[in-house]
Amino acid sequence: MAILFSSLEEKPDHWRVEFEKLLPDMAFRVWPDEGGDPADILYALVWRHQPGGLGRYRNLKAVINLGAGVDHVLTDPSLPPDVPLIRLVDRSLTEGMSDFVLHRVLHFFKDMHRYEALQRQGRWRPLPPPDKGKCTVGILGLGVLGGDAAQKLAGLGFPVAGWSRTAKRTEGVECFHGADGLDPFLRRTRILVCLLPLTPDTEGILDTKMFAALPAGAFVVNSARGGHLAEDDLIEALDSGHLAGAALDVFREEPLPEGHPFWTHPKIMITPHIASWTVVGSAAAAVAENIRRMEAGRPPFDVVDREKGY
Ligand code: NAP
Ligand code: GLV
Repeated sequence: MAILFSSLEEKPDHWRVEFEKLLPDMAFRVWPDEGGDPADILYALVWRHQPGGLGRYRNLKAVINLGAGVDHVLTDPSLPPDVPLIRLVDRSLTEGMSDFVLHRVLHFFKDMHRYEALQRQGRWRPLPPPDKGKCTVGILGLGVLGGDAAQKLAGLGFPVAGWSRTAKRTEGVECFHGADGLDPFLRRTRILVCLLPLTPDTEGILDTKMFAALPAGAFVVNSARGGHLAEDDLIEALDSGHLAGAALDVFREEPLPEGHPFWTHPKIMITPHIASWTVVGSAAAAVAENIRRMEAGRPPFDVVDREKGY
């Protein structure tokens, strides 16, 4: 019985230490020099892995993604069709994202982007105090991450709206769903936060049409996937003055290439895909729990619906 760890980005060492403690009966093997018989591999832990090789593990019981978004796993042609694909749902990942979203929302709400510009000009100029009651935060995606951020923002006293595929009821959050719900959701949103999964339906959703439906002076925070954003449309909306600022954590090409116009745009804040990072200790415990369930013959948690793509 063995677990395979396969990633082009993430180092295996901390995961190995955790899994050797949590699942001592499972050997921990690391792609590409995993050794042993591929038939021993029962679980493949992947994060931005090299696509194409999963077909050789014929006894796989699950492919477990060590992150929330599975867009890059679903495009792997070697992903076995009848093996469950599981994504990471973990307290530390959820809290990390809510902290990031709260930080960005408070930054724009408290006019920090303007105070930073004033400081660069050496100007002491108090601005009128912002009105929280008029600063609706609109969250695209009311899933594990969007739902948590929405509730925490509501707890801080922001009016919060959320948009999902199916109807939702969340205390303190005005919920909209589907194509018909999008326009009324956008019209009331001053700070738009994208926490959607990247699917064929959501690719390029942050575009000119969406920005035009937001009130003048709105902000955009994208901490989901770079593929959600039509990059030229954002620059146009910022340069025209319709949008007041954007905070971007994810990009179509990562690392963001040198010379990309986002790097120097005065209204864009950039972080290098760090909005929320998998904390190994906490995530390994969640993964190990799911493996124990499967070994006990029980259905795993957090299985991706491949039809929906998330
Ligand atoms: P989740 O629990 O699967 O929630 C997804 C939400 O999006 C659900 O509310 C879903 O609606 C909604 N949705 C999906 N397709 C839609 C559509 N076509 N129209 C309207 N709503 C739609 O996902 P999550 O765990 O919150 O994670 C969201 C994403 O965050 C991940 O996929 C990943 O890309 C990104 N992420 C980024 C970082 C980072 O560091 N930047 C870290 C972690 C995750 P229903 O509820 O109706 O199904
Ligand atoms: C990070 O981007 C994740 O999907 O967990």
